[in-house]
Amino acid sequence: MSASGTWDDPNLSNWWVEGFTDGADPEYTEQIIPLVVERLAWARTVLDVGTGEGQLARALADVGVSTVGIDLFPRQIATAVERGGGPAYGLATATAIPLADRSIDAAVACLVFEHIDDVDAAINEIARVLRPGGIFLFLLNHPLLQTPDSGWVDDRVLDPPDQYWRIGNYLSEAVTVEEVGKGVFVKFVHRPLHRYLNAVADAGMRLDWMDEPAPPPGFLQIAPHYEAAAYVPRLLVLQFHKTRTPGIPDTLCP
Ligand SMILES: C[S@@+](CC[C@H](N)C(=O)[O-])C[C@H]1O[C@@H](n2cnc3c(N)ncnc32)[C@H](O)[C@@H]1O
Repeated sequence: MSASGTWDDPNLSNWWVEGFTDGADPEYTEQIIPLVVERLAWARTVLDVGTGEGQLARALADVGVSTVGIDLFPRQIATAVERGGGPAYGLATATAIPLADRSIDAAVACLVFEHIDDVDAAINEIARVLRPGGIFLFLLNHPLLQTPDSGWVDDRVLDPPDQYWRIGNYLSEAVTVEEVGKGVFVKFVHRPLHRYLNAVADAGMRLDWMDEPAPPPGFLQIAPHYEAAAYVPRLLVLQFHKTRTPGIPDTLCP
């Protein structure tokens, strides 16, 4: 049994495809896909970094956006190609994106950076391929609330009993391999929020907007015994725009 937790593991890839794509997951159908389309439908060209089986790329292609999806692993790209729907796909890592400098209007990365070791290299690559003014839509498992060892605690010592959302070690960067299903392992890289924000700022991008949406109704229906689930965001959404080219002063940026 492999416990490396990397996305070339067929168990992990099947777990994701079966449980989180093609309408299987309310967080995608009710929240993530509509949000990505609403935010990026204006763009002519979008890069989907860590596209997986391509559900975001397909949704953007559906509204007429010319979309390219890249993923590090052949299994994901093969499923994306099989599912079709209009986007172009390439096998590539986020740290070496096979696109020209300043060639795209927008990039999206959804639940991908939690699996990338070199956050700075990947953010710099996204900044490199964005045109000045281009948009980076960044979706993460909420770094503060979805830490390693976070989870519900049922406190039966209190009268009446209560439930808490436990936050694990937020401040330390940590790599963990978690068993997310029977025999299914995922490697997660946890980083505090400031680590991401500083990497993006260093790459010449500025924050336009952020959201910490409440879990959507379809998700709450499948976790009905935790009343407070409605108040614990699972997702963090950040939108940046590129203001300058890294290494070149703002005034010289075309
Ligand atoms: C949780 S899935 C998300 C897939 C897709 N973004 C979505 O929202 O449906 C994470 C994806 O990141 C990909 N990935 C992991 N490391 C990567 C890297 N260094 N470069 C590109 N993709 C990577 C994995 O292969 C996997 O398809």
